[in-house]
Amino acid sequence: MYDVLAVREDFPVLREVIYLDSAATTQTPVQVVAAMNDYFYKYAGNHGRGAHRLAREATNHYEDARENVAKFLNVDPTKTIFTKNATESINMVAHGLEWTSGDHIVTTLIEHHSNLLPWIRLRKLGVEVTIIEPDTNGMIVPKDVENAMTDRTCLVAVTHVSNVLGSITDVSKITKIAHRGGSKILVDGSQSAGHMPVDVGALDCDFFATPGHKGLLGPQGTGVLYVREPDILEPTYLGGGTVHAVTTNGFELEPSPARFEAGTPNLPGVIGLGRAVEYVQEIGTEDIERHETSLARDAASRLEELPSVEVYGPAKRAAVVPFNVVGLNPHDVAMILDETKKICVRSGYHCAMPSLGFLGVEGAVRASFGLYSTQEEVDIFIDTVAQITSLVA
Ligand code: ALA
Repeated sequence: MYDVLAVREDFPVLREVIYLDSAATTQTPVQVVAAMNDYFYKYAGNHGRGAHRLAREATNHYEDARENVAKFLNVDPTKTIFTKNATESINMVAHGLEWTSGDHIVTTLIEHHSNLLPWIRLRKLGVEVTIIEPDTNGMIVPKDVENAMTDRTCLVAVTHVSNVLGSITDVSKITKIAHRGGSKILVDGSQSAGHMPVDVGALDCDFFATPGHKGLLGPQGTGVLYVREPDILEPTYLGGGTVHAVTTNGFELEPSPARFEAGTPNLPGVIGLGRAVEYVQEIGTEDIERHETSLARDAASRLEELPSVEVYGPAKRAAVVPFNVVGLNPHDVAMILDETKKICVRSGYHCAMPSLGFLGVEGAVRASFGLYSTQEEVDIFIDTVAQITSLVA
């Protein structure tokens, strides 16, 4: 039995607000904050850069966090690279692969800007980018990916869950399609990792990007890039920690993952992330998914019943519910929700303008749920939106 009230004890801020913005960032459990405190109070030191006890202990904790994250994703730790967020992870792939004029990328209209702009920019190098549209429900149809591929397609870049629509992409099928066509595939797991079971090893994608601060419940400033074949990727940044031999004539890179982690890493953040994935694992991603999607689907269907409310996205959604109150600016709706009932939602274009273009609106309000959200919060949220609709009745 999923005990949401017990979970909430670990997130003190939830006593103060109704937090429905977990797609932007989740709250951080006290256990993760404690792990980061331990770093600062007990063993702060740099990674791999000292023989003294604090440096050794900090390095060990950092590498333990890598083991935890790799185990959580079911991948090899040497292919698990820490970054500062999913955006950096994806940009490292765009910079690190070798592109030739005429290469072809397939991506989709429902991507976050972070999984769109790095590919669009490659057009400057002569790379062709095809952006496929979702079906009318906002779902990416695997067959459309297959049809868009050419014999020059070398990368398919697709989101697992749309941060605007909540649509869940069949990344397993699309991975098989990409590989069958001789292409690599990058999966943007920003809105899926931690929110649902995601077995990256079994998925067998070439690249998987996720931030640490969303479903994984880690702190901001942490992210992960899984790379199936590290040797095909040129490191974006070079510097301390990436090399084992340097002369004025050249250098020899360390093996992965060190070659991809230039400079002093975010030790406290990564150590927090290592504890966070343990926390998520202890609760269980199947239970988390069941809990979050049941709240989101209930909220969506009750919003749909309200006059003057438009709800977007498929019925079988992840924990994301975008909507508008017709006649009101989404930012005003978000402000009223906050001012009247301390309900925190995101409003605007959600760093995904093409998704909003697909919906034919300039912005939307987005309620997004976390493992700590409750039915009571959904009830208050729906009642408050109902009261807001009376402003335009
Ligand atoms: N990508 C985050 C969101 O969708 C910030 O809100």
